[in-house]
Amino acid sequence: MHLTVNGRVHELRPASAETLLESLRDSLALTGTKLVCDRGECGACTVLLDGEIVYACLTLSAACEGATVTTIEGIAEPDTLAPLQRAFIAHDAAQCGFCTPGQIVAAHALLAANPRPTDADIREAMSGNLCRCGTYPKIHTAIRAVANGEFRTDAP
Ligand code: FES
Ligand code: FES
Repeated sequence: MHLTVNGRVHELRPASAETLLESLRDSLALTGTKLVCDRGECGACTVLLDGEIVYACLTLSAACEGATVTTIEGIAEPDTLAPLQRAFIAHDAAQCGFCTPGQIVAAHALLAANPRPTDADIREAMSGNLCRCGTYPKIHTAIRAVANGEFRTDAP
């Protein structure tokens, strides 16, 4: 099967029960996407599949023929971190960091669809991503800051 990941086409031969998360991490060495619960509860494995948020631990690779996937590695810009990544750092929005890639991918999808989200929009969009360290207020602040234009790519 063919899968376009972060703009690069890959040829894969996944086992019938192989998940997209296993293909990304084990076949493509894209280990930014995390395995935590492995049952669709935490959002640590969040990626974009044809622009839509999915849990990669619940997605069969074999069902993704011809699809386009964006992982956390595809969010950063060529010469710099993405605004969301810089905002998470600036606002100390990661503690252990295990949930952070999924949080950022989910926030990226939110801001792509809704660049001016309300606080309720942010809470709703991020409700599928759990953080065991409890950094929710800082995650929210970081996303709010990007939505307010504080971390634009052309900003210093
Ligand atoms: S590892 Fe996929 S939702 Fe938790
Ligand atoms: S920063 Fe540790 S789980 Fe979120």
